[in-house]
Amino acid sequence: MAILPIIELPDPRLRLVSEPVPAVDAAVRQLMDDMLDTMYDAPGIGLAAIQVAVPKRVLVIDVAKEDAPPAPLCVANPEIVWASDEKNVYQEGCLSIPEYYEDVERPQKVRVRFLNRDGQIQEIEADGLLATCFQHEIDHLNGVLFIDHLSRLKRDRVQKKFVKAARLRGGDE
Ligand code: NI
Repeated sequence: MAILPIIELPDPRLRLVSEPVPAVDAAVRQLMDDMLDTMYDAPGIGLAAIQVAVPKRVLVIDVAKEDAPPAPLCVANPEIVWASDEKNVYQEGCLSIPEYYEDVERPQKVRVRFLNRDGQIQEIEADGLLATCFQHEIDHLNGVLFIDHLSRLKRDRVQKKFVKAARLRGGDE
């Protein structure tokens, strides 16, 4: 159990394409558990491994409502095998782009195939918020951020804001 530091825009590692894991072994399960701790602590509803600076195709999700019992999903090597034509708009945010929220349109439903925490192949048909969350997190594994789905004007504006903030912090980004 550990809370890991979350990297933020404009950290260039957020643009890396993550590598599949050969299997869900003890080290991957440990990573998943640490990522869940980190996500719940933030708090957030999804986290990709690259956000804790690990370029592996691993993510965790929990879209359960605050008053409902936790429903963690541990996911390795996810693939979207089907997406609906119908779209949905959700206001998205990202733990790596704190305090910035914008509407993003994505397919309303997706079917995702992945390896679960036990290393078994699992398929989920996700709808609504869960579908958006899967797509947002899978984007991270490909170096894509939700701001890439916005207009160039909005994307440039938020990018500049975070570059400036990093400079003011005297960060090494
Ligand atoms: Ni994100």
